[in-house]
Amino acid sequence: MFLTTPSLQLDPLWQLSADYAADPRSARLNLIIGVYRDENGDCPTMPSVRVAEGRLVERAPSKEYIGLSGNLEFNSAMTQLILGDEELVSRATTVQTVAGTGALRLLAELMSATGPHRTVYLGTPAYVNHPAILRAARLNVVEYPVSRNGTIDAEAVLRVANSARAGDLILLQGCCHNPTGLSMPGWLWDELADVMARKGVIPFIDQAYFGLGDGLEEDLEGMRRMLRVVPEAIIAVSASKAWGLYSERTGCAIVITRDGAQGDYARGVMEFVARADYSQPPAHGALVVAEILNDRALRAQWRAELEQMRSRLTHLRNELADELIALPNGDAFAGLREQRGMFLRLPFDSAQMDALREQYGTYGIPSGRLSLAGVPASRIPELATAIASVGARVDMATSR
Ligand SMILES: Cc1ncc(COP(=O)(O)O)c(C=O)c1O
Repeated sequence: MFLTTPSLQLDPLWQLSADYAADPRSARLNLIIGVYRDENGDCPTMPSVRVAEGRLVERAPSKEYIGLSGNLEFNSAMTQLILGDEELVSRATTVQTVAGTGALRLLAELMSATGPHRTVYLGTPAYVNHPAILRAARLNVVEYPVSRNGTIDAEAVLRVANSARAGDLILLQGCCHNPTGLSMPGWLWDELADVMARKGVIPFIDQAYFGLGDGLEEDLEGMRRMLRVVPEAIIAVSASKAWGLYSERTGCAIVITRDGAQGDYARGVMEFVARADYSQPPAHGALVVAEILNDRALRAQWRAELEQMRSRLTHLRNELADELIALPNGDAFAGLREQRGMFLRLPFDSAQMDALREQYGTYGIPSGRLSLAGVPASRIPELATAIASVGARVDMATSR
């Protein structure tokens, strides 16, 4: 017997990407996947990454196995960057992973191995891959609506925290929530931290878009405030977006524990899981990021490049909102200005997203998400016209 239960279903992203590749129309816009593109539609290597890669070519680091926890210099530099203060760093244990996805899976496995009956609360709409990753680690997933009227539903998040049991997890995106584009306000991080600390509920934080919302420090601030209050937390960090290292599969898993013994135990479990899966993470991306973060001038250059990407996204978003608001029915889209990061979430259902694709060659995903980072500025007016025509009777404030 071979391949007898073909019941698996891939998320819609990949089917749409295949449809896009097969679509012969010339003026199409591929806004399916969250990748930062320039005005020509290319996804260029960041200049700071090129400098680091040049140095690595010169130095020709050994290709020897790097160990189950990966590159220790990278782990240390990333932990300091993400946590930002020595007290938090002293409570952290970090393992290099196969990008953000690998970090999510490794941490989910850690949680499953150390608490088989845990529930993970997941706000919907969720990042398409979150449910699959959590379920693959055999965790019990409970979904709840996380946004209402185009904003984060704070009451819903707090209600979930109050109803969760000790040892349960709440999955929170650090900033620029995929797909809603919403970032949690500081006061909500604080209130949530108090409830979770009191109840022993563990934050499972996904940091994929730091630096692309309100600024690097600003995007990490809410999470850092929470971590100063809760005794334990797990954080999945992706280097894919902030360094443009999508294909290098670079990231890390950070575990915040009460004491060093718990940290050592967490590392042991993660190394055990990694050993039976991919054994050791790939070396190149972590070498690049460590080279950048550990060199003052190169780090400053990278920060400036990240800031440039962020301000271009803000500019594109505001341009689009301006164009839409000037069109008949455009007021319905005023809420787009409040969104942050790489994505744009339209108040569209899947039929309207089909219409956007079929009538205007604009490819997004059925939840209403478009990758703003893939729109050339010169095509904003055309995109606005397409959105306004498809959404002729949509009210942003009440539809989602
Ligand atoms: C919210 C979120 N988390 C994690 C990831 C995983 O990123 P990667 O595995 O490419 O680092 C993504 C990618 O789109 C994402 O949107």
